[in-house]
Amino acid sequence: MCGIVGYVGTAQLGTDVVLEGLRRLEYRGYDSAGIAVVTPDGVDTRKKAGKLANLVEVLDADPLPQAATAIGHTRWATHGGPTDANAHPHVGVGGELAVIHNGIVENFATLRAELLAAGVEFASETDTEVVAHLLARAYAGDLTEAMRAVCLRLEGAFTLLAVHADAPDTIVGARRNSPLVVGLGEGANYLGSDVAAFIASTREALELGQDQIVTITPTSVAVIGFDGAPVEGRRFHVDWDAAAAEKGGYPSFMAKEIHDQPQAIADTLLGRVDAGGRLQLDEMKIGEAELRSIDKIVVVACGTAAYAGQVAKYAIEHWCRVPVEVELAHEFRYRDPVVSERTLVVAISQSGETMDTIMAVRHAREQGAKVLAICNTNGSTIPRESDAVLYTHAGPEIAVASTKAFLAQITACYLLGLFLAQLRGNKFADEVAEVLAQLHEIPGQVRQVLDGLEQVREIARYMADTRSVLFLGRHVGYPVAMEGALKLKELAYIHAEGFAAGELKHGPIALVEPGQPVFVVVPSPRGRDSLHSKVVSNIQEVRARGARTLVIAEQGDTAVEPFADVVIRIPRTSTLLSPLLAVVPLQVFACELATAKGLDVDQPRNLAKSVTVE
Ligand code: F6R
Repeated sequence: MCGIVGYVGTAQLGTDVVLEGLRRLEYRGYDSAGIAVVTPDGVDTRKKAGKLANLVEVLDADPLPQAATAIGHTRWATHGGPTDANAHPHVGVGGELAVIHNGIVENFATLRAELLAAGVEFASETDTEVVAHLLARAYAGDLTEAMRAVCLRLEGAFTLLAVHADAPDTIVGARRNSPLVVGLGEGANYLGSDVAAFIASTREALELGQDQIVTITPTSVAVIGFDGAPVEGRRFHVDWDAAAAEKGGYPSFMAKEIHDQPQAIADTLLGRVDAGGRLQLDEMKIGEAELRSIDKIVVVACGTAAYAGQVAKYAIEHWCRVPVEVELAHEFRYRDPVVSERTLVVAISQSGETMDTIMAVRHAREQGAKVLAICNTNGSTIPRESDAVLYTHAGPEIAVASTKAFLAQITACYLLGLFLAQLRGNKFADEVAEVLAQLHEIPGQVRQVLDGLEQVREIARYMADTRSVLFLGRHVGYPVAMEGALKLKELAYIHAEGFAAGELKHGPIALVEPGQPVFVVVPSPRGRDSLHSKVVSNIQEVRARGARTLVIAEQGDTAVEPFADVVIRIPRTSTLLSPLLAVVPLQVFACELATAKGLDVDQPRNLAKSVTVE
């Protein structure tokens, strides 16, 4: 949610480096973009509503001067619509200082009223401009100190970067509840909402904590707390490179990331099973005794990550015999949930910066629960604020709608469930090695699914004018159905609903009319408690009312054929692992259909990659 980049170096490369960083961060918001540079002549800005390409046109027509210091912003609008005037950077009174911001200043109305009363004139409707004016008024020759004084007055969530004409080789950044990382280069330093901002220049980074201010020059990085005391940031090495964040020949990041999925699963499994077939989760910093004593697991997450949690519920309850609740993070904190020292809260987040999930983590810890993060972003807030972390190794996910991170999250949840089963030594413990072996087959099986989806692509193109699609599933197929519907809504702006197939007869079947497309995720017919025959009955029920049925079924399941208009085959695996295969055709369907409609699948309207406001 809003991307922020800063560059200060010995070379006069400010605009180019920051534009490159913005290009990599555009997934965070694309309502407007802007850049400010500082030269010995002062601060200069260019900004434009709309995607980054619009800013590039402005810069082509009216270039910024060469500068060794620059900050840039790509916006997801909160206060004030997506206009040129509301685009960042915002300039403080006197025009000598520019500010960019990610987050929401919650007390902005009070602060704005105070500034208006003092005669300050506003050029925008944003909360950020309030900060710019406050900073300009607090400035008395030391930008770091002015930033500290202003931060102490702000409520809410913010990452701020500021530059001042008096210090052409300095950027000051601050963070509370919004992300900011420092890139450490040779003769240059960087700031970014995440490491993608500077990955093309350096892979050495410094993590900032809550309520900290950083001052960078080409050769120095100094961090202090909001109390003024110096602090040490934690250095880390970014283990993916710039190429991983490029499209790699695919038409979109979304297409690439769907095809990255076998690797994402394999990398998430890598190094976590020892030669004896036992799971070793080195990052699991919660003690074994505590893990043995937990009597409940609560998963907190949002959107796609919450659907990964739903899959986890089925698997962990079956393997560990521990009750698992899955709660949308934004609901969790506000309903006085029952958690205790014996509750393990699992916070699932690709970005690690989703504010709703951060708040749920904090609330859970306040109640004495242990929190385990499942996260894709090293150094982000959620793992930092949790007791332990299990990283997914999906690599950078740039497309706004999540795909490969989802599969990696599910994989990490399986690892957690199997680890707990192994640790608690219950009756399932003997089967852990067998499930792990099946799990290691999954990357190859996802590849098979991907190789066999031409039929799905054709159907998607043919269905470009469809107005509504239903998705049905049972057991682990239910979260898959909901994820299929979410992908279609997000990417193709088509009305889509995911239902538990058993719920159909309790109401939703009224939606079915002749021609209604219905995807059905069919469980394997193998296995003792298979729901296969029940789901086949559900297919017949919708078909009898004229629905067009698109059925995802495992290879060899011939029983579905008489009732399916289209059968999409997935390889055989155990029911609990099947979501990793069954969701792939649905992702491809949504991506292809949206592409056929001429939509931007990487940056769907109204969305942002990382939702850093509540
Ligand atoms: C959907 C999607 C979102 C995210 C949700 C949580 O495609 O990407 O629903 O899953 O906003 O984001 P993270 O995982 O970053 O906490």
